Amino acid sequence: MAGAAQHAHWSSRWAFIMAAVGSAVGLGNIWKFPYEAGQGGGGAFVMVYLLFVFFIGTPMLVAELSLGRRGQLSPIGSMKKIAQEEKRSPLWGLIGWSGVVGAFIVISFYSVVGGWTLAYMVKSAMGAFSNIDAQTAQDTFVSYISNPVMTLVSHFAFMGITIFIVAKGVQGGLEKAVTYLMPALFAILLVLVVYSGFTGDFAKTVDFLFNPDFDELLYKANSPEAIAAGGAAKVFSLDMVLQALGQSFFSLSLALGSIMTYGSYLTRDVNVGRSALTIAAADSSVALMAGLAIFPIVFAYGLDVAEGGGLVFMSLPIAFGQMPFGIVVGTLFFGLLAVAAITSSISLLEPPVSYVEEKTGWNRRKVAITMGVAAGVLGVLSAYSQGDNMLSSISIFGLSIMDAKDFLTNNIIMPLGGLFTALFVGWFVSRKAMMEELAMEDKTFRIWYFLARFVSPTAIGIIFIKIIYDTVV
Ligand code: PFF
Repeated sequence: MAGAAQHAHWSSRWAFIMAAVGSAVGLGNIWKFPYEAGQGGGGAFVMVYLLFVFFIGTPMLVAELSLGRRGQLSPIGSMKKIAQEEKRSPLWGLIGWSGVVGAFIVISFYSVVGGWTLAYMVKSAMGAFSNIDAQTAQDTFVSYISNPVMTLVSHFAFMGITIFIVAKGVQGGLEKAVTYLMPALFAILLVLVVYSGFTGDFAKTVDFLFNPDFDELLYKANSPEAIAAGGAAKVFSLDMVLQALGQSFFSLSLALGSIMTYGSYLTRDVNVGRSALTIAAADSSVALMAGLAIFPIVFAYGLDVAEGGGLVFMSLPIAFGQMPFGIVVGTLFFGLLAVAAITSSISLLEPPVSYVEEKTGWNRRKVAITMGVAAGVLGVLSAYSQGDNMLSSISIFGLSIMDAKDFLTNNIIMPLGGLFTALFVGWFVSRKAMMEELAMEDKTFRIWYFLARFVSPTAIGIIFIKIIYDTVV
């Protein structure tokens, strides 16, 4: 196949790790994880999330990286090729399809929030947060997301940068950006954790994030069902557990073809197991640090933990407005967050681009522009669904357009993609082929195989069956 011979590769193992960490660490860690933990009731959500990361997500990272490396094509091409080699149905190519389509949907709204970080970088540099109180921080955010011009400009600015880098190919700017800027983001987050810890309510944060209250996670109160049942009743529900599962996939960039595509640029000498653990550890540390930086401020200023997607944008500016050198720290923070988001959005555009490139033979630049602009246009619907913006009154099953896209990908496409990937590597690819591909120590391989073969499908299966049962009955 012509594509295989021209396929690019990472220049070193370090470059690959940095790019994969760059893909994993992004808005998912700093924007999404804290607000979902807040909505999920804190500690129990965090605990379940971490269990998913290490017992399901990490084995899935291994699976996707090795499938990509074995296939050497786009996710769709790789899945079909491996299914054929293993004499399985070409329908397994659907895993690749759901990844590519899912990535296209995610990038369309990811870029909107990416645009918010760019706008907040500018706001911070202009001193907009000086001494603001909680109410002003909230009003600033709502008035920004309600502004059709500003949100459009920042969304397309973000998408433009993504397209520019993807058009240049994997090795160009991407490796350099991640090698220097990701450690810088980590350092600034550390500064924020210390600052928030001293000035905000750290004790309450630690209790909130690490003292699990499973009732908060597993029972829905005041839901329509609860009210129908007499008001005070609580209903057992795995909705938030599914949310945590989806978030663990989202944060590790799983099931959307990104990691599989990055695996296809991988050379054979890289130890996939060790790489997966490094990626998962780095990713989780950043998410926890984001929580430790944000919640002390949330509690100290009486913000709502269940605020949702505005949480980080309403909380941290208060701290930037008060701390010494706050303008510099705030501008750096949002700037680096934008960089972290860009290194992720690149990996989201990559699966659709690599597929269209493979199919049409167009040059990379043309494909990157076409797919990026198309996703950008789809993203306008998300941008305008926020605050009081033009499409904010549209509701899809009670969700805004942006939240509906998030729900569809986070809670349906990603967990199902993960389920079928686990079934594929666990039951439909020969054990010998996997052993050969992974080249792990025997014991490590057995642990991985057990997690992929039994634990992942069972856990995901149970959550889905319970939720489908609840919905139908
Ligand atoms: N992992 C990225 C984040 O946490 O922000 C988002 C992401 C990138 C999700 C790539 C999925 C993906 F395929």
